Amino acid sequence: MSEASELDEIAREIRSCTKCRLHMNRTNAVPGEGNPKAEVMFIGEAPGENEDLQGRPFVGAAGKVLTEAIENFLGLKRSDVFITNVVKCRPPNNRDPQDDEILACSSYLDRQIQTIKPKVIVTLGRHSTRYIMEKIGKQFRSILAERGKPIKADLGYGEVVILPTLHPAAGLYNPNLRKYFEEDFRTLAGLLGRDKDKDKRPSIFDFLNGPRARGKEGNSNVLK
Ligand code: URA
Ligand code: SF4
Repeated sequence: MSEASELDEIAREIRSCTKCRLHMNRTNAVPGEGNPKAEVMFIGEAPGENEDLQGRPFVGAAGKVLTEAIENFLGLKRSDVFITNVVKCRPPNNRDPQDDEILACSSYLDRQIQTIKPKVIVTLGRHSTRYIMEKIGKQFRSILAERGKPIKADLGYGEVVILPTLHPAAGLYNPNLRKYFEEDFRTLAGLLGRDKDKDKRPSIFDFLNGPRARGKEGNSNVLK
């Protein structure tokens, strides 16, 4: 089966999945999206409200930060990479996913990884970082301790580099953390061999103040 049809099959199973309690409140499951042969895969935590409504990952405020980082900082398109989450259905009121939910959902993520065979996996925040680190037999301490340090690993299909970073929402709501997120994307650019334009790169969070932030709903909208 091609990578694309394998991913379609996984997505189909996710949309009808009832393996954990999160299926009860979902509007749409959010399997993930992107290039079936992506070199880089981003793994977030769980769908939020906008993602649940649209059935697509990272389309709300945190998604604006991630999209900015991918498109204007790295110079890639969202469709070049693959974006997904540890759990595929929205937890009520955006609470943290629970261990049994992560466990129940993990076979979908594992199969997506084995299908795409990314060279780099960027884990966004503590849930996906902890999941992947434990999978490769490393102890997770805290996201601030692990972020920014690439880990070479073997997930069964060849070498992959795991790069833990903060969740994009962390930078959105805490300006003191933005420098770390940006530093880690600089590291990612280096891992992908995309560091030639490093001096021309905009700051990832500049868009919050720039003209692109001022849509018809006004500037404050990006922070909601
Ligand atoms: N936060 C996440 O972790 N994932 C999404 O898809 C959206 C927000
Ligand atoms: Fe199934 Fe995962 Fe959704 Fe739980 S979160 S119902 S395991 S797809």
